[in-house]
Amino acid sequence: MVQLYSILALGLSLVYTASAACNYGTADFPREPNVPIGAFGYTGLDGPLNWYSLNKSANILCAEGHFQSPINLNSSIPVAPGNRSLTLNITSYAEGAEFENLGTTLEVPANGTFTTANNTYNLAQFHFHTPSEHRIDLEYYPMELHFVFQAADKSIAVVAFVIGLGPADPLLTSVFEYAVGAATPGEATLTGPLVFADLEDHFSSSNVFEYSGSLTTPPCSENVLWYVSAQPLTVDQGTYTKVKRILKFNSRYTQNTPGGMDLLQNSANAINS
Ligand SMILES: *[C@@H]1O[C@H](CO)[C@@H](O)[C@H](O)[C@H]1NC(C)=O
Ligand SMILES: *[C@@H]1O[C@H](CO)[C@@H](O)[C@H](O)[C@H]1NC(C)=O
Ligand SMILES: *[C@@H]1O[C@H](CO)[C@@H](O)[C@H](O)[C@H]1NC(C)=O
Ligand SMILES: *[C@@H]1O[C@H](CO)[C@@H](O)[C@H](O)[C@H]1NC(C)=O
Ligand SMILES: *[C@@H]1O[C@H](CO)[C@@H](O)[C@H](O)[C@H]1NC(C)=O
Ligand SMILES: *[C@@H]1O[C@H](CO)[C@@H](O)[C@H](O)[C@H]1NC(C)=O
Ligand SMILES: [Zn+2]
Repeated sequence: MVQLYSILALGLSLVYTASAACNYGTADFPREPNVPIGAFGYTGLDGPLNWYSLNKSANILCAEGHFQSPINLNSSIPVAPGNRSLTLNITSYAEGAEFENLGTTLEVPANGTFTTANNTYNLAQFHFHTPSEHRIDLEYYPMELHFVFQAADKSIAVVAFVIGLGPADPLLTSVFEYAVGAATPGEATLTGPLVFADLEDHFSSSNVFEYSGSLTTPPCSENVLWYVSAQPLTVDQGTYTKVKRILKFNSRYTQNTPGGMDLLQNSANAINS
């Protein structure tokens, strides 16, 4: 999910994070009850097939967009070359950061920058999906990580990593260290120490799929620039099981290829013809 709300609410959440931080860092990691819970969902009439109906004026692109995300990534999608000018720089949090259960995702507000040839973006937050939203050569992954950035001109870029099962990744293990403290939507806890150097190196040494798509949550706004690492991260079975038990399922279905008719509109046309 890429939640525009979180970007718009950034100013608010920074104040909130700062005040909450005074209560953290102690042994018992008290819960914070004031995390907003998403109004949409992933099942039945709250789910992606019906997001348009939840608010027809706001969510029109969820049913009629032609550049929607997520998609299947394959050789039809351009890959940034090895000498590309894409730089990821995420601030480390030696004493941990706020970890929020928004119901629709698990999210960590954080600072950092992402620089492309054309723009500099500031990090709003990063969050997770299970299973993955993007697919690579049609294959899905157990999890996906989205870093959501916004530039001064308000344009949005997302740096994404699919996550497979394998060796424990120290960063991911630490992100979810105290996740059971925020097992219920609306709760917050703290992460373990966060150091992003290995992740930045992984990104700079990976091929990166680049395409223009959308938020994967309502209102499904377009002109979102996606940078998806072609090389997965890994997470160990124990961390994955812990995350899946809390997050359950929050993955939008695979959208049509960029420029193609929205799959919902295509279905509606077929039903009405
Ligand atoms: C639908 O979205 C519009 C535009 O964002 C907003 O003004 C309106 O309050 C929303 N309606 C409902 C029922 O949420
Ligand atoms: C890539 O996947 C899309 C479907 O998502 C398909 O239409 C296209 O033909 C594929 N391209 C290649 C080169 O396999
Ligand atoms: C990458 O480097 C090669 C060789 O120096 C150069 O020809 C090419 O234009 C570069 N590509 C980009 C995107 O900078
Ligand atoms: C990353 O950002 C920090 C804070 O803005 C800055 O001090 C540091 O020099 C940056 N690192 C790189 C490699 O650009
Ligand atoms: C991000 O940086 C701003 C400005 O330095 C600071 O006020 C805020 O607390 C930081 N947010 C996080 C999540 O670290
Ligand atoms: C930079 O912006 C120009 C003009 O909008 C565009 O043609 C070009 O593709 C962009 N380059 C990258 C790497 O996004
Ligand atoms: Zn996302």
